[in-house]
Amino acid sequence: MSPDDDTARWDAWNAASAPQYPHEKAIQFLLRRFAPAERAGKVVFEPGCGTGRNLEFLAREGFVPVGRDISPVAVEGARARLAPWLADPDVAVAGLAEPAVAPDSCDALICIGVLDAAGPAHLGPAIDAALRVLRPGAPGLFLFASDADFRVRGNNPLGLHGYTEADVAAAFGAAGARLDRLCLDRYITTYDNRSHAQNEHLITFGKAAG
Ligand SMILES: C[S@@+](CC[C@H](N)C(=O)[O-])C[C@H]1O[C@@H](n2cnc3c(N)ncnc32)[C@H](O)[C@@H]1O
Repeated sequence: MSPDDDTARWDAWNAASAPQYPHEKAIQFLLRRFAPAERAGKVVFEPGCGTGRNLEFLAREGFVPVGRDISPVAVEGARARLAPWLADPDVAVAGLAEPAVAPDSCDALICIGVLDAAGPAHLGPAIDAALRVLRPGAPGLFLFASDADFRVRGNNPLGLHGYTEADVAAAFGAAGARLDRLCLDRYITTYDNRSHAQNEHLITFGKAAG
């Protein structure tokens, strides 16, 4: 699939299906790490921000949101959603590997439901980019489908990729000393009397301090 096909697919999704409310893991991850008095001015980067449900939550809590997405429809939607909060939000069209965000400039990173959308060629470059833009010591979170997720089995209209445990361990392991902590967890939610399991990799990490 060409980059143009990916953009068209995600433009259509962002126009029709983008969720409205912030993801519970974005809320938990950020509010547990930053007390209310620490939030103002803290820059949180969301690669693959979609139409900005998490960016709006960040702005409301006093963080400075920075968003990037390959979909122009997503970026337009996110900018409109942030308009009541920020006169000129830092939201732009960019891919995971080259986000055009200054090195060492972000206090945290959240990337939710994007690596599965983008596919395996993006995993290593996305980790490298995250470790470039985060400040030393800053935390990050990636959430994305595993190979056991019902969305990647059978009918898969969005072409999501499900990552194995080995894929994930190898890619984050390659970051080596650039990480000072790494937790490879799962976030599993079942539906319809457990007939469907949304089985995601929940990766939290910190950029090494020095
Ligand atoms: C399922 S949506 C998730 C959006 C947002 N993170 C959220 O939680 O609402 C996946 C997003 O990833 C974007 N995307 C897909 N491939 C991408 C890539 N290579 N670089 C940046 N964004 C990408 C899509 O345009 C889409 O907005």
